[in-house]
Amino acid sequence: MTKGKAAKQAWRNRIVGHDVKPASWFLANEENWRIHPKKQQEATEGVLDEVGWVQDVMVNKRTSPQWADRQGVETLVDGHMRVLLALKVSDDEPVPLEYVDLTPDEERKVLLTLDPLAAMAAADKEKLDGLLREVSSESAAVQAMLAEIAEKEGIRLGRELPAPEAQIDKAAELQEKWQVTTGSVWEAGAQRLICGDCTDRATVDRLMRREKAALVVTSPPYFNQREYSQWKEYADYLSFAERCVKGTSDNLGDDSIFVVNIGSDEPARRWMPSDWWVILRDCGWLYRECIAWVKSAAVWSVPRSMHIENGHYFPAQRWEVMLVVSRGDHPKFDIADRDKVRRFDENVWEIGVVTGGEQRALGHTAPFPLEIPERFTMAYTQKGAIVLDPFCGSGSTLVACARLGRRGRGIEIIPQYVSVALQRLQDMGLEVKRVEDGHSITSPP
Ligand SMILES: C[S@@+](CC[C@H](N)C(=O)[O-])C[C@H]1O[C@@H](n2cnc3c(N)ncnc32)[C@H](O)[C@@H]1O
Repeated sequence: MTKGKAAKQAWRNRIVGHDVKPASWFLANEENWRIHPKKQQEATEGVLDEVGWVQDVMVNKRTSPQWADRQGVETLVDGHMRVLLALKVSDDEPVPLEYVDLTPDEERKVLLTLDPLAAMAAADKEKLDGLLREVSSESAAVQAMLAEIAEKEGIRLGRELPAPEAQIDKAAELQEKWQVTTGSVWEAGAQRLICGDCTDRATVDRLMRREKAALVVTSPPYFNQREYSQWKEYADYLSFAERCVKGTSDNLGDDSIFVVNIGSDEPARRWMPSDWWVILRDCGWLYRECIAWVKSAAVWSVPRSMHIENGHYFPAQRWEVMLVVSRGDHPKFDIADRDKVRRFDENVWEIGVVTGGEQRALGHTAPFPLEIPERFTMAYTQKGAIVLDPFCGSGSTLVACARLGRRGRGIEIIPQYVSVALQRLQDMGLEVKRVEDGHSITSPP
């Protein structure tokens, strides 16, 4: 016995058996005081539909002599609403039950205290926050209940989270703060990212931990446009793209979608969307559609909009391709789901770039507007789904995922950009921590 604890008898086990009976078999307790509002019934029905029975209803056997003429009348103590919901399905709906054997006083005590005791539980906000971000439901009533819990606990979910900009100009300073090293894994709420090479299997495995993503949204590097260009020959670039597609594809589920945002590479005289399509096709992906992302004209003023070659001017490409490929029979969204359908009612998207041309001029990573990963994430995934961005840059996909209640997974090779992404996630109010094998190994700065 633990020191300091008074000698105490072990608690009696009053459960005397289990059974399954048809819904019409149950007898309601005359003293049942609980009433069940419509929204409680609908939310319970939602969970029963999605998960099924995970808890018995409780029936008292009433074998105590104190029951006198009511002896042996097997009566519900707990689970009235679930039995009613089962009756709505059919009289024969099987309901799992546990038998207890209680005297009249004990039965009343349990009847009175069971729900209020459960309701006395307080919330560990961090854990609740994590669960709320990870769990999603098809049932509107369950989603409404979860939103209510979040509101009651002051937890901000979804798009009401702020959308901080990427502070790419402060990358060096932020790297000083976060001290990101190659191979380090970071988590912020339900978002996770790793600093490493997405063509390296071990890196992808450490990030994904055997979980499968439902969607990839990514903007890969171009052959020769930015500081991270690493290839001498275009053929090297293509084999790099192939390794990325292969490694990433293995971490995607059966009905997944792969979206690549890629433009043309004029200096290299290459039309990269076609090369990415061929690689994806050869890895088993099927063509779904091609969306033109048109950047707002304002930031493409002359002379930046012009591309000069051998004394000739060419208009630079003001639109980029969003190549969408799929496995299985996507898209699966219901035509009645207007929000999702609206995002796909046309395939020319006019969306301004993030901060104009400055970042291009500086040769920095080019964050895509949040709206891009947000549109695809909303259209192609449910809450709680995993969305992977193998070229995560400043973390736009992860920010979108945090705002939409999805679990973003990002890979970025340059430590400074990982720092920029971490800062962005922290600026959203998420707690950022470095992790190893799922355990926190540093406290946030
Ligand atoms: C076009 S940017 C992506 C920008 C990103 N969508 C955003 O919103 O910030 C491409 C990114 O891929 C990164 N990158 C290049 N090669 C990589 C590799 N092998 N593995 C992971 N990331 C890589 C670059 O450092 C760069 O940040």
